[in-house]
Amino acid sequence: MVEAYAEAGGALSNQQLYERTAEKLGVQLDLFVEAEPVGEKGTKASKPTRHARWAQQTLKVNGLLERVERGVWQLTTEGKAKLRRPVKGMALLAFSTRLGIGVWGDCTDVVGGLETDITLVLTSPPYPLAKTRAYGNVREGEYVDWLCATLEGVIAKLAPGGSLMLVLGNDIFQPGSPARSLYKERLTLALNDRFGLSKMDSLIWFNNSKPPGPVQWASLNRSQLNTAYESVLWFTNDPSQVRSDNRRVLQPHRERQTRLMAAGGEQRNERHSDGAYSLRPGRSYARQTAGRIPKNVLPFGHQCADQKAYKIAAKALGLPVHGAPMPVSLCRFLIEFMTERGDLVMDPMAGSMSVAKAAELAGRRWLACEQYGEYVLGGSTRFEGQPGFWRNDALTGLAA
Ligand SMILES: C[S@@+](CC[C@H](N)C(=O)[O-])C[C@H]1O[C@@H](n2cnc3c(N)ncnc32)[C@H](O)[C@@H]1O
Repeated sequence: MVEAYAEAGGALSNQQLYERTAEKLGVQLDLFVEAEPVGEKGTKASKPTRHARWAQQTLKVNGLLERVERGVWQLTTEGKAKLRRPVKGMALLAFSTRLGIGVWGDCTDVVGGLETDITLVLTSPPYPLAKTRAYGNVREGEYVDWLCATLEGVIAKLAPGGSLMLVLGNDIFQPGSPARSLYKERLTLALNDRFGLSKMDSLIWFNNSKPPGPVQWASLNRSQLNTAYESVLWFTNDPSQVRSDNRRVLQPHRERQTRLMAAGGEQRNERHSDGAYSLRPGRSYARQTAGRIPKNVLPFGHQCADQKAYKIAAKALGLPVHGAPMPVSLCRFLIEFMTERGDLVMDPMAGSMSVAKAAELAGRRWLACEQYGEYVLGGSTRFEGQPGFWRNDALTGLAA
């Protein structure tokens, strides 16, 4: 049924839907009209017709199908986006710049042919959400196996000391309970057990502009606090030669530190916490350093100029705006921390291409794959004006 609506490209009457669905299933159209007793009361109806109506309601509840008039339905923008996947095994070079390429395709079909090492895989996979987003989410019970299978090929291409960074949500709860899922812990163990990856850290992306939630457990039941962070799980295949270097992301010294350095360091002689910390005159904070080492709590709000421009451009093309874009500023910070100019950064599940745009701005080479063509086309608008920008005409056809 979904294929029938997608191929129609517009509205279908129920009669047209039955004809096309019957053809696709290789069954007689009569099946949709022959009535037989259904249910306890034995009311006469066609079972396939009832199934079709049920499926229409399910698609409607999921925001994929909308009623045009009585007996006539069409896919919503999200519904169309959901369906524009490339044929399995095929990938389209969608757009490129001098530094990178955006591919419309499933990442598992793309990475096998890669002949160069990846220094950083930075991605935000779909979370195991109970209420699914337009791009689809995998259930919690299958999540670890699904993500490991999806990432296996890219992990194999990591350079020695290369890193995998996964931006993952914290608000996944055990069914009907305010207790959080342990999926991130299970995933951490699986990445270690199955691929030998070492955990470097679980960084906190602190986002104070998140809307209040989880509504059920914070606003209604009141047993939880409002969420203000997501995790950035960081793994490497070789901690002894990990490529990260905090000197690439130093922050300006605070005024107090600048004054201390200028004065030759601390003048106090003190011991704290049973001697764990001590201040020694002329020694502590005396060394001239280039900047402050960032803390592992990363405060980045959602909104940024790049994100706003992307949304406006996608809407102008009649494309669905991605529902979970990451701030380009956060991606750029992580990329600069983890890689040097010219290194290759990959985002296998690229959505609106935020990671790719950050890599472009930071002067890193990049490779980004996204399974939905509409998101690739919308994301490609971020690169207009970048050196060497080129876009495949085959992609432009996806605009409404
Ligand atoms: C949470 S979103 C990523 C958002 C992205 N970081 C951004 O800033 O826009 C996850 C994306 O992964 C894509 N995806 C899921 N599985 C994929 C696969 N096997 N290959 C390519 N893309 C995939 C989904 O279509 C979705 O757009």
